[in-house]
Amino acid sequence: MTSTPLDLDNIQGDILVGLLKKTETFYFFQISDDVNAFRTQLSQLAPLITSTTAAMDHRKTVSQSKKDALAQGREPPVVPIAGLNIAFSQSGLTKMGITGDIGDVGFKNGQLADALALGDQGSTVNGKFVPDWIPAFKNAIHGVMIFSGDKQASVDKTLAEVSAILRVGAHDATIHEVLKVVGAVRPENGHEHFGFLDGISNPAVEGFDIEKPGQGAVDPKVILTGHDAILRPAWATDGSFLAFRYLFQLVPEFNLFLKKNPLPTDSDGNRLTPEQGSELLGARMVGRWKSGAPVDLTPIVDDPVLGKDPMRNNDFHYNIENDFTSQSRCPFAAHTRKTNPRNDLRPEFVTPHRIIRRGVPFGPEVTPDEAQDNRTHLGRGLLFACYQSNLANGFQFVQKQWANARGFPPKSTPPGIDPIIGQLNPGDVLPRSMSGTNPASQDELLGLPIWVVPRGGEYFFSPSISALRDTFALGVHIH
Ligand code: HEM
Repeated sequence: MTSTPLDLDNIQGDILVGLLKKTETFYFFQISDDVNAFRTQLSQLAPLITSTTAAMDHRKTVSQSKKDALAQGREPPVVPIAGLNIAFSQSGLTKMGITGDIGDVGFKNGQLADALALGDQGSTVNGKFVPDWIPAFKNAIHGVMIFSGDKQASVDKTLAEVSAILRVGAHDATIHEVLKVVGAVRPENGHEHFGFLDGISNPAVEGFDIEKPGQGAVDPKVILTGHDAILRPAWATDGSFLAFRYLFQLVPEFNLFLKKNPLPTDSDGNRLTPEQGSELLGARMVGRWKSGAPVDLTPIVDDPVLGKDPMRNNDFHYNIENDFTSQSRCPFAAHTRKTNPRNDLRPEFVTPHRIIRRGVPFGPEVTPDEAQDNRTHLGRGLLFACYQSNLANGFQFVQKQWANARGFPPKSTPPGIDPIIGQLNPGDVLPRSMSGTNPASQDELLGLPIWVVPRGGEYFFSPSISALRDTFALGVHIH
């Protein structure tokens, strides 16, 4: 437990609570050469940033209006809510002249320099690795603003306010847009594009959240900077590193693979129809059924009531009887098991690597044409975003040491690669594969196609609101 309570007015709202969103725009920018003007304008921007307290209030307002509507037997109204957070890359801090070692090598070097080690596809040009990213992410991005809202009009309103402050579009604009990507919850609320309920498992932060069964709790120092022994400048307290990844998903191709490789039987040996076999294969690759129900708790049939129940849908541990050999309930390489191995390892080897995820889907639904062709024609995927106090322990570790590593978690049969996000670590020439998809055997499922394609990303630092106001901003301070 931390001794001092967290300063909820100081910590940006997306970190511990999550900005409430039906739609969310990530606005990536470069700061113009008039750095002082930009830094002066930051004092007007700082009061618009949604704090943890404000994000909690947004949630209370929405849940109260739902309760009221329910009590009065009417449809819950859409409550207009808008949120804004901001984060800077190392090149952004450098551009602003903010000095001091923030103590994170991954952040300092930036994500482009990490793309090869992350396993992203690319080619070598003049002896230098160039990932297959969109051009925007291959140039310097100084910062990102995250605009969230109940609808696009709410986002647009904040966007207009911020644009007026920063003179966007005018001759004396202090930033210019590098890329604007719009995410939105899907019609199948809360489900990512492959169809699985997402955002179920994040760690509880001690002293802030009430831990739910199986959720697992972390000391705030795992998520927030300035709460551990690492020496950092005073302005780095109450911040967090934001790892952003622009991940495209090949949904028709994923569905075709499931269709072509149905599991013949379940873990009790019952014969399955092709549809049931495909559904079970998908669930075993993710670690949860589409409803969110964990296969570790319900390995044979989906249980949508369990999937929705926050008191039960994280209450599983894998490996309950310390069984290092069986993947009959859940494959070792299933996405959720790779990225949070729970009892596969002792807690001290899992807890430092927990991250808080705040992603949102982007792109249209699969069209009838795409479904017919089994091919993606339109770009869609996940604007993946996660927070941690240390990138090498958080996102970088989860992607490289867990998802991409064939031997993780350490078991009698090599688990293989995370079928959803696993990429080939440099030097790994074997095809993507995993073991244990079939509950009846430990055979490897070979040659898994790639269904998640990274097309960019960056590492950012999400500073405290006081750092933004008192250190990053110049001149007049508006409280
Ligand atoms: C398009 C890419 C991705 C898709 C479709 C995806 C999908 C999912 C789904 C459906 C879940 C289960 C819901 C839940 O437990 O909240 C999940 C959980 C999770 N994912 Fe991903 N994910 C993606 C990318 C990533 C990346 C890049 C990482 C980190 C490197 C990651 C880390 C996690 C973690 C830590 C969990 C929670 C596991 C647990 O605590 O049980 N995911 N993901």
